[in-house]
Amino acid sequence: MCGIVGYIGKQQAAPVLLDGLAKLEYRGYDSAGMAVSDGATIRVTKARGRLKVLNELTHGGELLPGHCGIGHTRWATHGIPSDKNAHPHLNESETIAVVHNGIIENYLKLKKNLEEKGYHFSSDTDTEVVAHLLDYYYKGDPLDAIRRVMHRVEGSYALGIMFSDRPGEMYAARKDSPLIAGQASDGNLIASDVPAVLKYTRDVYFIQNEEILCLKEDSLKFFNIDGEELAKEPVTIQWDVSAAEKAGYEHFMMKEIYEQPKAVTDTLSPRIKDGKIEIEELNMTDEEIRQISKIYIVACGSAYHTGVSAKYVFEGLARIPVEVDLASEFRYRDPIFDEHTLLIVVSQSGETADTLAALREAKKQGVRVLGIVNVVGSSIAREADDVIYTWAGPEIAVATTKAYSTQLIVEYLLAMKFAQARGTVTEDTIHEMIEDLKKLPEQIEMLLDHKEKIQRFANRYIAAKDIFFIGRGLDYAISLEGSLKLKEISYIHSEAYAAGELKHGTISLIEEGTLVAAVLTQEDLYKKMISNMVEVRTRGAFILAVTVVGNTEVEKAADYVIYIPKTNKYFTNSLAVIPLQLFGYYVAVGKGCDVDKPRNLAKSVTVE
Ligand code: AGP
Repeated sequence: MCGIVGYIGKQQAAPVLLDGLAKLEYRGYDSAGMAVSDGATIRVTKARGRLKVLNELTHGGELLPGHCGIGHTRWATHGIPSDKNAHPHLNESETIAVVHNGIIENYLKLKKNLEEKGYHFSSDTDTEVVAHLLDYYYKGDPLDAIRRVMHRVEGSYALGIMFSDRPGEMYAARKDSPLIAGQASDGNLIASDVPAVLKYTRDVYFIQNEEILCLKEDSLKFFNIDGEELAKEPVTIQWDVSAAEKAGYEHFMMKEIYEQPKAVTDTLSPRIKDGKIEIEELNMTDEEIRQISKIYIVACGSAYHTGVSAKYVFEGLARIPVEVDLASEFRYRDPIFDEHTLLIVVSQSGETADTLAALREAKKQGVRVLGIVNVVGSSIAREADDVIYTWAGPEIAVATTKAYSTQLIVEYLLAMKFAQARGTVTEDTIHEMIEDLKKLPEQIEMLLDHKEKIQRFANRYIAAKDIFFIGRGLDYAISLEGSLKLKEISYIHSEAYAAGELKHGTISLIEEGTLVAAVLTQEDLYKKMISNMVEVRTRGAFILAVTVVGNTEVEKAADYVIYIPKTNKYFTNSLAVIPLQLFGYYVAVGKGCDVDKPRNLAKSVTVE
């Protein structure tokens, strides 16, 4: 998604903007630009391409002198990636500059109104409407003009705004698209995400919906949409810049794969005290838990895959009916709720528009919403009734790994907590499961120690056209994630299939040498899985099996076997996913793909 950085202070603004935008590159973009005020004139440079292009065009920012500026990396939504569609956008007299993240959903109507008033547009973007609308309303009072614009536009926005006749000020406003502010020793900043400001400050303000911010070199003032000043407290960010850097790994993705043992530990250990599960953020009494009639788990992508897996855990342990939905489908299918329905939304970024929309739809109907989120202070975190954070730390690579693993942990803990409250499992079982949970970080470490073996196997498939992943029950959920990890970073076509479903059509795609990854971690399904493996193998498939140590039976039906350590049957996803993450990573690296920033993808999809 788009990245915004703004700075006003004692330093030259342009180098600060370039540095901040570089920290936001992970968000995915196709063009970049900056606007800097020297106190009289706003100068703008913007271009299609990577930040390197902007850096060269501005000689590292030297050609844009001034102490106040806004910068932007654009992930195109309206208007193709091009110089003219890059941000910042200006009004015609070039006295107002705007950068924007989000979508102005009624921009065509506003554009038509403005053109009828004599305004001329130079780009195909929705954002340019904001620049001209500000021009239309600006009579010398920036706050008034911004408020009027906020009342007119529909959709989502994080805005950075400068007025050439207000050289010592910068403005920001936000609705649905994330935006933070940072107070540094020599100035103040705005940004789409924390990594962009950490070099300058740890004290961060999360700008809430329909809030406006006026930044000066030495002050930050917040207002609501009615123009009333607000008192806000900063949040002190605990993790440091290095946590958002690669720390010596070739890619953020590998760094984050290796951070999984720690992320799992950080997410797990604060919630197990004296052998008991304690989820402080869960404000539900045992009675309320006993009354839950149904759980919906709603999410997108990998977060959705954890939900498919969690369904088995919740239903198996707590005997609560669970429906898992893709967020983009959920809100349009008129879901059935009652007063005891619980909606669980899962999101790493906490800004995924489809998931946020599903949350809002459910809340409108009075449904209790529990969020499982990684980014503190994100929209989903703030709008859910309760939020349980996954303490994975900042996840930079577009392909999620450690956030996925920590989402699983929270889901296990919740299901165990619910089972305890509902008396559907014995205390001994819970105690045994807690001991198994505690072993997961070390077991993940063990699997990571075998990464070279997986790298060698992966190198055999960098030219593959199609790769299939199959599994039954919880192993189908694991197959979904294995397939997505591979295709989103290596661009190799891949599908995950319920193993029993192959013979109903897809098996026709199996050719000599087609790789089929079979996941077998559910002992009661081994026999059925082996027969499915034989089915495809007799038709020429090469079988990679991922199974639990001791299941040597599988070797008669597989060409290559990866063993995972024994754990509770509900926790096997946390281990089987590790070799599948590594497989996808090494295939992508072998193909020379941009592993951390795959084509067409963004780390947080804040548009529907
Ligand atoms: C997973 O590797 C992808 N990056 C994508 O499927 C992601 O899981 C999905 O977009 C949901 O994102 P969220 O967890 O931030 O809501």
